[in-house]
Amino acid sequence: MKLLDFSNININEEAPVCEPERQYYYMAKARRYVTAKADELGHPLTFCVTTFGCQMNARDSEKLVGVLEQIGYVETSNEEEADFVIYNTCTVRENANKRVYGRLGQLSRMKKQKPYMLIGLCGCMMQEPEVVEKLKKSYRFVDLIFGTHNIYKFAELIVTRFESERMVIDIWKDTDKIVEDLPSERKFPFKSGVNIMFGCNNFCSYCIVPYVRGRERSRNPKDIIREIEKLVADGVVEVMLLGQNVNSYGKTLDERMTFAELLQEIEKIEGLERIRFMTSHPKDLSDELIEVMSKSKKICKHLHLPIQSGSTNILSKMNRRYTKEHYLELVDKIRAAVPDISLTTDIIVGFPGETEEDFLETLDVVRKVRYDSAFTFIYSKRTGTPAATMENQVPDDVVKERFDRLLKEVQDISAEVCSVHEGTIQSVLVESMNDHDASLVTGRMSNNLLVHFPGTQELIGKIVDVHLLEAKGFYYMGEMI
Ligand code: SAH
Ligand code: SF4
Ligand code: F3S
Repeated sequence: MKLLDFSNININEEAPVCEPERQYYYMAKARRYVTAKADELGHPLTFCVTTFGCQMNARDSEKLVGVLEQIGYVETSNEEEADFVIYNTCTVRENANKRVYGRLGQLSRMKKQKPYMLIGLCGCMMQEPEVVEKLKKSYRFVDLIFGTHNIYKFAELIVTRFESERMVIDIWKDTDKIVEDLPSERKFPFKSGVNIMFGCNNFCSYCIVPYVRGRERSRNPKDIIREIEKLVADGVVEVMLLGQNVNSYGKTLDERMTFAELLQEIEKIEGLERIRFMTSHPKDLSDELIEVMSKSKKICKHLHLPIQSGSTNILSKMNRRYTKEHYLELVDKIRAAVPDISLTTDIIVGFPGETEEDFLETLDVVRKVRYDSAFTFIYSKRTGTPAATMENQVPDDVVKERFDRLLKEVQDISAEVCSVHEGTIQSVLVESMNDHDASLVTGRMSNNLLVHFPGTQELIGKIVDVHLLEAKGFYYMGEMI
């Protein structure tokens, strides 16, 4: 990453009030502290950011890395040797939460040997007051705790920590603010996530996201386009537009704009080759969007359309606001307009009150839609959500048995569906060298499936035509033509 020139920032003056200028001031100041510490130790300070959860969190982590590199830290993938360890946490299910506590135990031992080491926690879990209470009581060795709404203040919080030598906690309940133009360091040079909106207003009854990510806010289309144009100028050919419910994009803007209209604007950006987006909520997927997808040359032939349950009764208790029939009609409409589209989904098993009949409705949808792949989750009770206090929570053994049946069905269908492209030629974005065989590269097709084929490093980031020779279940072996 190109280091910014902080020479015209006077850190002896008071901090500016406006953003992002204020954060650039704090970056300059933090860099002073980091350089001094590195000189004292005789080696550069290192950091390691670990991301839990979804693509929003992954994108947020790129912003953390951007700031850390600007202030003089050097990235390491080895947490054990890092001088600053950060966990960007997720709390969508209980097990995501537990993993963080487990790893904090290990960090505490590391810090005993290296007292100057810093530990930072941020992300969705920190938006839960009980979590912060627990950390304050039993995890005193943590240095910095902040949430999802004030991540843009990272540089300022680091400076506060350097100057106070105490646990720094800054959590906001909600925000209507979006701060633009801060540094971020992309994981891949050729593709990037782009936030188009933040938060969620849907309040599905099982889900904690609206409580930890706050109310829905859309970014200004001009800011989104400007960001993508800059990314393209910097070598990006594929963007993933990110939001909890991209289909309701634009509703909070002064000048209303639909998601389909935004897509058409993005399509015009020269040099951009591929557009992906997630996640789509079935209740808001418009005919206008289907039409735009069918005409587009850049929107990838893949739609992630979470169903959650196939039972209309359970869907209503989940507050999803569509029925089984509505969902199936939507799938038919999409397939009629974009015949070769790949469909994927999320399914929850064991929502309170789910009967065997309800579960069979879910299996029925899986058999009818024939998804390319499906993420299957066991229902996890999240404190504070309406579902947590619903009666008839389903016993663990019943849920487990249903989950196994669902997984088998999903996997069998997926292997069949994914192999239909054998023998065809597909355009593929080469993403990396193959992990197991140095003579192969790995690329992604428009429909999101992976293909491995002979190739070299120079191909990474390029879009090439590949002949799919052999289907291997969830991926292909091929050759470039
Ligand atoms: N905004 C996206 C989903 C974000 S969370 C959407 O509405 O589609 C990703 C997935 O986690 C959800 O689709 C759901 O399947 C799952 N999930 C959310 N809360 C859950 C819970 N309490 N227990 C189990 N799975 C859950
Ligand atoms: Fe959660 Fe529903 Fe919002 Fe998705 S749409 S984040 S499942 S509340
Ligand atoms: Fe997890 Fe937060 Fe994403 S709870 S799934 S990281 S929005």
